[in-house]
Amino acid sequence: MAQYNLQVNGKKVQVEVSPDTPLLWVLRDTLGMTGTKFGCGIAQCGACTVHLNDNAVRSCSLPVSSVGNNKITTIEGLSEKGDHPVQLAWDEADVPQCGYCQAGQIMSAAALLKRKPQPTDQDIDTAMAGNICRCGTYKRIRTAIHAAAAKKGGKS
Ligand code: FES
Ligand code: FES
Repeated sequence: MAQYNLQVNGKKVQVEVSPDTPLLWVLRDTLGMTGTKFGCGIAQCGACTVHLNDNAVRSCSLPVSSVGNNKITTIEGLSEKGDHPVQLAWDEADVPQCGYCQAGQIMSAAALLKRKPQPTDQDIDTAMAGNICRCGTYKRIRTAIHAAAAKKGGKS
């Protein structure tokens, strides 16, 4: 076990876990933040996507010991009231079906728009390729990302 000082959703938290614990389990089990989901555990599905300094990362495959001072943002911290442009666009396009993959999808989409405020279809397909949706909501995801980009010029 070791102690880590993390920055999660703008707050400093201290956790005591084994160094190889994936960030996903620190978030879910140690900190009780269950918005980030477990899918495959091997960085292949995107369900566990969070931001590390605005970049989308797979928290199931990121040991807590490698996080350091980087800022972690989870779906719980993406916006205060669920009103990030991506979340609003998701609502309007009625994107989710079962919902399981959606936190990861939203986090990947938000990271894409931060990096590329007006993405093309190709940009979207490339950025979202690692986020699997068993319900096949891909078409609505693409529509919602374009809508979010239009909302605020893609800025969050
Ligand atoms: S649970 Fe992390 S990528 Fe699937
Ligand atoms: S909405 Fe069901 S897996 Fe994506």
